[in-house]
Amino acid sequence: MSTPRSQVSQLSEIPEYELDVTMRRVLIPADELAARVRELGREISDTYRGSVPLLVSVLKGGVVFLTDLMRAVTIPHHIDFLQLSSYAGGTMSSGTVRLLSDLGTNIGGRDVLIVEDIVDTGLTLRYLLKQLEIRQPRSLRVCTLLNKQSARQVDVSLDFVGFDIPNEFVVGYGLDYEEKYRNLPYIGVLDL
Ligand code: IMP
Repeated sequence: MSTPRSQVSQLSEIPEYELDVTMRRVLIPADELAARVRELGREISDTYRGSVPLLVSVLKGGVVFLTDLMRAVTIPHHIDFLQLSSYAGGTMSSGTVRLLSDLGTNIGGRDVLIVEDIVDTGLTLRYLLKQLEIRQPRSLRVCTLLNKQSARQVDVSLDFVGFDIPNEFVVGYGLDYEEKYRNLPYIGVLDL
């Protein structure tokens, strides 16, 4: 049975997001995110054509980006997840990174692409790169949706970057403040 036209248009409407804080401004609207994710998908497909790369998403912040990115990657690939913790619920990195849950895949000899939501100080990514390098993947690259270059404390090299952003705390599209606002379809700056 087909869906009536009126219902289709209702489904495609963007819902009004209910916030318990003020959104200072939208930094990257949903349509710009979608367009850039499609471009990244093309770049990643071109880079790995002929291989079956493993896209590693870092929970929880990276999950929204991964689910959109994997549908923009047109070559066959695998996905897996791991969870790290460095922020104790606030807006400042604690600097101490812990592996909360590991990959289910053996990455030895694989082409691995880390898919991150944001690289801020770089401490989380440096820890993750060290953890994965010792498992001897064939290649190890990094794709991040957002890059806060001016907040960097350690040098990490990024292979695919969605957007360079200023040193402000952002939420939405997977990124949280105290576990909230991951559901917003845009990247925004809260009035905290
Ligand atoms: P880094 O170790 O400082 O590079 O931070 C990496 C992690 O901190 C990211 O994967 C995010 O989970 C979190 N993070 C850093 N900046 C922000 C932000 O502006 N909003 C939300 N989370 C952030």
